Amino acid sequence: MIVFDKVWFSYGTREILKDISFSINPDERVVILGESGEGKTTILKLILGLIRPDAGKIIIDGEDIINKTEHELREARMKFSIVFQEGALFDSLNVKENVAFCLREYSKMSEEEIDQRVRELLRIVGIENAMELMPEELSGGMHRRVAIARSLAACEPKMFLYDEPTSGLDPVNAENICRLILDLSKNGKGFIVVTHKIYDAIKVANRFIFLKDGMTIFDGDRDELVHAAIPDIQIFIKELSLNPG
Ligand SMILES: Nc1ncnc2c1ncn2[C@@H]1O[C@H](COP(=O)(O)OP(=O)(O)O)[C@@H](O)[C@H]1O
Ligand SMILES: [Mg+2]
Repeated sequence: MIVFDKVWFSYGTREILKDISFSINPDERVVILGESGEGKTTILKLILGLIRPDAGKIIIDGEDIINKTEHELREARMKFSIVFQEGALFDSLNVKENVAFCLREYSKMSEEEIDQRVRELLRIVGIENAMELMPEELSGGMHRRVAIARSLAACEPKMFLYDEPTSGLDPVNAENICRLILDLSKNGKGFIVVTHKIYDAIKVANRFIFLKDGMTIFDGDRDELVHAAIPDIQIFIKELSLNPG
């Protein structure tokens, strides 16, 4: 379980998050919505202990991560599979090496085991034929799939974190990535997607947390979201009627 308890965070003098509280169970399918610059990526970084809050507690599986050492944080991070914004890959490595990178780094697998595991991961994300391709040869959707495969290689995650997983993708690829996100969460492993794209958010999540001016102005299910009498949310919801499907 991830608990944010009255979390405050600022970059310099600029307050980004103001008194944010929520609890998320590992089997939940959550989207954190908000405009660009609202602090969505910041929340993921806080969960991973990459940055520390100015005030408040961040409790993961009952343990406050704020005073953990870098070594302890590494262990805590293994609970999550994380796909960063744009799913950055190493340009100079082919798909296989991009996915194998973490296996080489963190495990003692033989070359043959690595090969098998990479194949398996690429099969899971639906691009087993792309092993030898270089990142520049991949379409946007394939690129994102490799990033997801690579995040799966890192560990046996309890939960998935995705930062803007569909940004920059055409609608068909965005739809496919949404489907993959749902497929991967089928055995009770939940996810947190942060995005500004409500059209994709609504397809994958059953809980929505809405950030505005550094605060959570909404936390509820789909029905509550669609009927929320909050002007900032209604602007977002309008996008749904413009994108029927
Ligand atoms: N390392 C940093 N130093 C200073 N400001 C930053 C840094 N990272 C992000 N910011 C600013 O903090 C705000 C929140 O950033 P971010 O969490 O990336 O927003 P989002 O992911 O919602 O677009 C943005 O205005 C951004 O410009
Ligand atoms: Mg961001």
